[in-house]
Amino acid sequence: MAEVISLMGVDEDDNHQKQNHSQKLSKGKSVVTATDSKATPWVEKYRPQSLADVAAHRDIVDTIDRLTSENRLPHLLLYGPPGTGKTSTILAVARKLYGAQYHNMILELNASDDRGIDVVRQQIQDFASTQSFSFGAKLSVKLILLDEADAMTKDAQFALRRVIEKYTKNTRFALICNHVNKIIPALQSRCTRFRFAPLDPIHVTERLKHVIEAEGLDVSDSGLAALVRLSNGDMRKALNILQSTHMASRQITEEAVYLCTGNPLPKDIEQISYWLLNESFAESFTRISEIKTRKGLALIDIVREVTMFVFKIKMPSDVRVQLINDLADIEV
Ligand SMILES: Nc1ncnc2c1ncn2[C@@H]1O[C@H](COP(=O)(O)OP(=O)(O)OP(=O)(O)O)[C@@H](O)[C@H]1O
Ligand SMILES: [Mg+2]
Repeated sequence: MAEVISLMGVDEDDNHQKQNHSQKLSKGKSVVTATDSKATPWVEKYRPQSLADVAAHRDIVDTIDRLTSENRLPHLLLYGPPGTGKTSTILAVARKLYGAQYHNMILELNASDDRGIDVVRQQIQDFASTQSFSFGAKLSVKLILLDEADAMTKDAQFALRRVIEKYTKNTRFALICNHVNKIIPALQSRCTRFRFAPLDPIHVTERLKHVIEAEGLDVSDSGLAALVRLSNGDMRKALNILQSTHMASRQITEEAVYLCTGNPLPKDIEQISYWLLNESFAESFTRISEIKTRKGLALIDIVREVTMFVFKIKMPSDVRVQLINDLADIEV
């Protein structure tokens, strides 16, 4: 545990700790400084620093914010799909609670650390049972962050039940996971649960615009729409696609985005579906094979996109059902 804490403790510049964590692990010292911030992945560069920066989930963030301000933070369980801001939210809470001191006041354990039953017994108990000295911090309770808690063994989760109760006086636990059903009910009932839904397109667009402006990018409207569509409410994915498209081409258009991710363009899918519905079997087979080779498309992507397309066009529902059924068979 000493190692985990000291790794976090050295970090001065308020960059995200995971990033520093890995840099320090790989190089022994921090390699990314403000001057070569070009090397920083945008997901980390634009990770919300305060609760106000977290896009969407206004009601959850406001609730947590109020509880934090009133020093009434309960144990938390944040769950939901990837890239929706769970880790960012809790780190912002820690920053708000402890200010610059925050690396000393939180113990972060994630799936890359060993979290078997021994770890729960040892590391967490060691950290939770020591007195906290927090100069200038608003709250003297410590925070134990169990990221990717759904990867913890059942035994470790059972061991945690008692630990949580025992140290409630001076520690708060924050469990973060994707699949809440992998957390044992006894732990769930000890925490206040918040569900982070996939971000809706408006919020993804808003946040992307913020990054686009900050980076001075040239993004067309259809390019932005494509980014939002492909991200499916995962902000991390949206930022990653944006960055890789930016590296691949100067102008970020719809075509560039699809090309960069290797997804078939909507107009190709439209064309393919048209052939499938109107041409003979042999004819559409040759044409699809041709476009597949020419554009380097994967069959699985075509099948998946055609399936989505079937939902968009008008047809009697029994026909649609049969089409979807057959497409599912093909996918399998
Ligand atoms: N609500 C949000 N507002 C602003 N940025 C966000 C939001 N959600 C995600 N992001 C962006 O995506 C990145 C990843 O977010 P975060 O690590 O909080 O996701 P997560 O919900 O913890 O995902 P996972 O379940 O995969 O751990 C952040 O660095 C940030 O750039
Ligand atoms: Mg996370």
